[in-house]
Amino acid sequence: MGQQSEVKPPSAPKAAEKGGAKVPKEEKKKEKKQEPVKQWRGIDVKPLNPSFEILDRYQVGSKFAEVIIAAPPGRVVEPIYFVSEAPLRPEEEVALERVKDILTKELDFPKLGEEEEVRKVLHESTLKILKKYRRAVGLGEVSGEQLERILYYIDRDLLGFGPLNVIMEDFKVEDVSCDGVNVPIYVWHRDFESMPTNISFYDREALDDFIIHLAHKAGKHVSSAFPIVDAMIYGKHRLAATFREEISPRGSTFTIRKFRERPFSIIELIVSNVLNSEMGAYFWLLLENKANIMLIGATGSGKTTLLNALTTFIKPRMKIVTCEETAEINIPRENWVRFVTRESYGLGSSERGEVSLFELVRTSLRYRPDYLIVGEVRGEEAFVLFQAIATGHGGLTTIHADDVETAVKRMMSPPMNIPETHLSLLDAMALVQRVQLKGKAQLYGRRVRYIWELEDAHKYRKIAEWDPVTDTFRVNFANSIQLESISLMTGTSRENIVLELWKRKELLEWMRTNNITDPEKVSSLILSYYADPDKLISELGLVVKKPPAVAVTAPVEAQTLLRMPAQGQTTVQLAASTAASPTELENEVRTVADYIVDTLLRKSGPIPYWQVFVKTPYPRELIIRAMRHLKERRRIDIIGGIVELME
Ligand SMILES: Nc1ncnc2c1ncn2[C@@H]1O[C@H](COP(=O)(O)OP(=O)(O)OP(=O)(O)O)[C@@H](O)[C@H]1O
Ligand SMILES: [Mg+2]
Repeated sequence: MGQQSEVKPPSAPKAAEKGGAKVPKEEKKKEKKQEPVKQWRGIDVKPLNPSFEILDRYQVGSKFAEVIIAAPPGRVVEPIYFVSEAPLRPEEEVALERVKDILTKELDFPKLGEEEEVRKVLHESTLKILKKYRRAVGLGEVSGEQLERILYYIDRDLLGFGPLNVIMEDFKVEDVSCDGVNVPIYVWHRDFESMPTNISFYDREALDDFIIHLAHKAGKHVSSAFPIVDAMIYGKHRLAATFREEISPRGSTFTIRKFRERPFSIIELIVSNVLNSEMGAYFWLLLENKANIMLIGATGSGKTTLLNALTTFIKPRMKIVTCEETAEINIPRENWVRFVTRESYGLGSSERGEVSLFELVRTSLRYRPDYLIVGEVRGEEAFVLFQAIATGHGGLTTIHADDVETAVKRMMSPPMNIPETHLSLLDAMALVQRVQLKGKAQLYGRRVRYIWELEDAHKYRKIAEWDPVTDTFRVNFANSIQLESISLMTGTSRENIVLELWKRKELLEWMRTNNITDPEKVSSLILSYYADPDKLISELGLVVKKPPAVAVTAPVEAQTLLRMPAQGQTTVQLAASTAASPTELENEVRTVADYIVDTLLRKSGPIPYWQVFVKTPYPRELIIRAMRHLKERRRIDIIGGIVELME
């Protein structure tokens, strides 16, 4: 972090030296001259063409900054994102550069988290400088509005991202990327998706300097020798950049994934229809019972956001450990241990000091987490996570894949190598997608497209599905074996499990209609529910309607096998248990029941409920039916998640 204080504006020659570049002669000359060097050179900001049709416009953070989204007449090309800032008069511009020059020579730049203090000092110092050198900097009396405008640019340039600051402050922008010089900077906009902006770099060196500037602000080094940066810059945004032509032949590139200070709460996701309150209640019940859940989706589909919102449902006494590559997860609770990987700080090929995700996940097991949350599985850490799941820890993670088949295939192949038997320990999977919305003001949205429960690596039961036509969800709890399993494990009748689901659904609905969206508030209501559900329900005056009769045991026929049709076969197979008739099913259940009794006898003592699934090599549905069978015949008892022989 020692580099923080050395940071200079991008055009400062020192910054260029850092990158190993030779300082051009003219640059040296400029340095000697008294005229301050203009801070943001090489950046072009195009004005709005008056003939364009304006689709949206809004202020960003200050009355001096506006975003205008506009398209050429006839909308022949995609809309363009225009940054429009109150211009400075030429003399004000000169004054601003001088003030900045003085300030950068005298002031240290902020470290992460100290911005507010530095802003105060900056403003005070600016006022002093303007007072003292008013004439020297070429200004007369500085009027109120003029001063505000100068302070706006001081903040923008010294604390923010200069001409890119409006984009960075616009909460509707999720991603900012620059693919090189002379191409517009692109943004990913919440309402309009990917869009070019009116800003571009036209000078290679200026772009290099900008990247050095960003990297240094994050306390990282970038140069021709180390041309890749992956860093958290201030504001906790994630910067990925490449330097010069080393690995990107068209010159430096960068992309910034913006971080939300306040994470989306589960209610916000319900309000924006990412999922509905029934699905929320379902996840809640599963998470309370330590189910293993995996969220799948493409890049930027909203996996981490949903994962984070779901953590609110985890039972308060459960210990959570999170392992991530970049610190994104943000859980409003205390009983939470957070691990983040560390990059190597060695030079060249020696990867001294690196702590990989694999090592983190392995270490995290020593903390005996009830829930082990891995931000995203990509490699061998997935194997460790599944081992953890197979030894009774709850697991919650995300994986990059476009559909469930790809996700399962990825998990079963190198480098993850999850054994097929372990895969079925995953209780539920959900697919998150960015989807196009029809007939809505908002063009795109994120939706939980499907929720499935896994029976084994090839058999999934659809629990919920998004309907693109009506933009609503179809939920079918009758298909759930998880609810049956929870009923069995907790000794709660199926009716009461469904009633429980309904109570939680009503509570989530109540929060939605009463606009309780703040993560802390949502979390505290969920905690109150855990403490005393009926008290909370009566305090809030919730009316829990009798839930529709849902047989929680899945009817045998209602399972969809999503395995792709084999060659020559045109339809997707539908399959249930292999049993063709009720008698055959009964026989199968009996075989599995005998197997379970054998296991218990061999163990000569009670075993945890989850272990039955690890030890019994049969489909989950059969295991649950077999346990139900044994329980009803009083051959086993299940108390507090422990299975015991009664004989
Ligand atoms: N429901 C939502 N509404 C609005 N913005 C969202 C929503 N979900 C996610 N986002 C935003 O989209 C961006 C990407 O989301 P997120 O990080 O959750 O995606 P991801 O699938 O985990 O991406 P990656 O594959 O890179 O890990 C973030 O800026 C996030 O704030
Ligand atoms: Mg993610």
